[in-house]
Amino acid sequence: MASEFFASSNVVFGKDAVKELPKMLKEYVAKSVMVVYDAGVKMAGIAEKVLAEVEKAEVKVTVFDGVIPNPTNEVVEEAAKLAHAEEIDVFVAVGGGSSIDLTKAVNILMTNPGPIGQYGGIGMVKKAVLPLIAIPTTAGTSSEITNVVALTDTKAVCKYVIIDNKIVADKVIADPEFTKTMPPSVTAATGMDAITHAVESYISNMATPLTEYHSLKGLQIFQKYLPRAVANGSDMEAREQMMLGCIIAGFGFSNANLGLVHGIAHTLSAHFHLAHGMANATVLPYVMEYNAPSCPQKMAELAQAIGLPVTGDMEKDQLLLSKELLKLTKELGIKTLSQQGIEEKDLEMLAEDVLKEPVLGFNPRQGVTKEDVLTILRKAM
Ligand SMILES: NC(=O)c1ccc[n+]([C@@H]2O[C@H](COP(=O)([O-])OP(=O)(O)OC[C@H]3O[C@@H](n4cnc5c(N)ncnc54)[C@H](O)[C@@H]3O)[C@@H](O)[C@H]2O)c1
Ligand SMILES: [Fe+2]
Repeated sequence: MASEFFASSNVVFGKDAVKELPKMLKEYVAKSVMVVYDAGVKMAGIAEKVLAEVEKAEVKVTVFDGVIPNPTNEVVEEAAKLAHAEEIDVFVAVGGGSSIDLTKAVNILMTNPGPIGQYGGIGMVKKAVLPLIAIPTTAGTSSEITNVVALTDTKAVCKYVIIDNKIVADKVIADPEFTKTMPPSVTAATGMDAITHAVESYISNMATPLTEYHSLKGLQIFQKYLPRAVANGSDMEAREQMMLGCIIAGFGFSNANLGLVHGIAHTLSAHFHLAHGMANATVLPYVMEYNAPSCPQKMAELAQAIGLPVTGDMEKDQLLLSKELLKLTKELGIKTLSQQGIEEKDLEMLAEDVLKEPVLGFNPRQGVTKEDVLTILRKAM
């Protein structure tokens, strides 16, 4: 059966890449530019550096600095109102997945009517969007190159995704220096999100040889460099490799989608505001242990790719990866669910909601039950 692989990105990668920004804005003949970020990006001094470059393009500048983690429909609508009022014609998104996703969502509303919630699902956006330049400051979500936006619906208490090739950022400015200010806990959480993308997309039932190539390479890079980036935030080789890995792995999961780990993480974040990467990392080893019997060969391939001692005995090899991931999460200080405020009494409700997650359709192990999810959640407590 034929399969489609979509990749569309224009990436300027490396130190001082942000200096390309004025030229890019001039090429777009931008008149009114909106720069979007959050408080953490401002505190890190990154917003200031980007704004200085935007100034050089002699355009009208509007700042939206009200991005929140796991951005909500309400914040998207608020920023879109401002963007319409200021007749924005080019967007510059600076930050982690929250800032870039929010900007991608606002951009949808510039050419398509609201509310934003109607675009949840695959290929629901009707009209082409405006130019968007994405400047990532975390190395985790790959939002700078993906066709995905993840938003929180506060009324339905869930996270939902908009997947559409039309919403990909036109240009990416990827300067590893911008990730240097991430504290170790944020580096660990966002990096574990990247590992989750690589692993889940590799075993997804939508995976193809083209996506597998990206997922595998991404995992190799992350496994080698994430511990270094967490241990020493100024290790620029590690920072550079993590950012590069996100671009590589992003093409994999943008096409192959994800699975049960993200289903659980989205539910946890919607109810308890857990940071996305932390939510993934907490359950990742246990979901992989659960998935292993349905894709033992692929589990062994992932283990082999990161140098684990495969024996040829599938019974043992299929569990090497989940054990290694558990070790890694402990080393990186990933919190348990109870350390993140989840209590035993919350688990039934969470397990029920996880079963409603559309992303479960891509998970290699099908027929996931409430009991299965409860077992995973209890292990992660
Ligand atoms: N679109 C996609 O393809 C995709 C994929 C995975 C996840 N996501 C979404 O992305 C969001 C998570 O994004 P994230 O993990 O990048 O975190 P984030 O954007 O929420 O940022 C986390 C925290 O780190 C701070 N921060 C960011 N960069 C920093 C820096 N360089 N120095 C210091 N502090 C910094 C932020 O201010 C924030 O407080 C979630 O909503 C998730 O669902 C999207
Ligand atoms: Fe993710």
